[in-house]
Amino acid sequence: MITTPHINAEKDAFGKTVLMPGDPLRSKFIAENYLENAKLVNNIRGIQGYTGTYKGTKISVMASGMGMPTIGIYSYELFNFFNVENIMRIGSTGSIQEKVKVRDIVIGMGACTNSNYASQYQLTGTFAPIASYPLMREAIAQAEKAGASYHVGNILSSDTFYSDNKTENESWKKMGVLCIEMEAAALYMNAARCGKKALAILTVSDSLVTGEETTAEERQNSFTQMMEIALNTAVAVD
Ligand code: HPA
Repeated sequence: MITTPHINAEKDAFGKTVLMPGDPLRSKFIAENYLENAKLVNNIRGIQGYTGTYKGTKISVMASGMGMPTIGIYSYELFNFFNVENIMRIGSTGSIQEKVKVRDIVIGMGACTNSNYASQYQLTGTFAPIASYPLMREAIAQAEKAGASYHVGNILSSDTFYSDNKTENESWKKMGVLCIEMEAAALYMNAARCGKKALAILTVSDSLVTGEETTAEERQNSFTQMMEIALNTAVAVD
């Protein structure tokens, strides 16, 4: 048994790939609806982690919580203490481009951030957090196969959901950034530092351009498509 401050599990409790939604209840839902023989392998702080199989491949799902500090903690521990090679964030995002519609899927090729997370690496310039190319290439192939409406590009991992700066989205929009979420940049940086692989696959839950939001049913449908892309990618790269 390995006990870190946030995970208590056997060293080989997790698959090579961990899918990481923000919400612990979503982790449970995925385990119950997509994995075979899913077993709860971690439940510290209610951050439910499950391992089961999908098309015969051992795959895990564990929640990250919201924001860069929490995904930073869980991805660090999974990469460094539990032999995990790939972490795929599966989450929701708010669009800041007209062409990125609610229910679309966004594959985060790069993750800009307004967070100071990279300062720990003491680099003499700006680090560019990017997705793992092999994971991204496979996810794109799976998105094509599924006939999904998807975009690949830069996303913004923001430290704030409620920002006092009402014009900042406009600046990121001008730089071609597609959408905003709150975790990918820290995940990409941890993967880079650990020599591991990471990818964020997102569904657009709301548009910060039009104010449009998805209904619960629509969210479920685009969630299903995102899940199938992520699971089939995990199987292909195992
Ligand atoms: N901002 C940050 N994260 C999000 C958003 C948003 O507008 N929508 C879904 N996740």
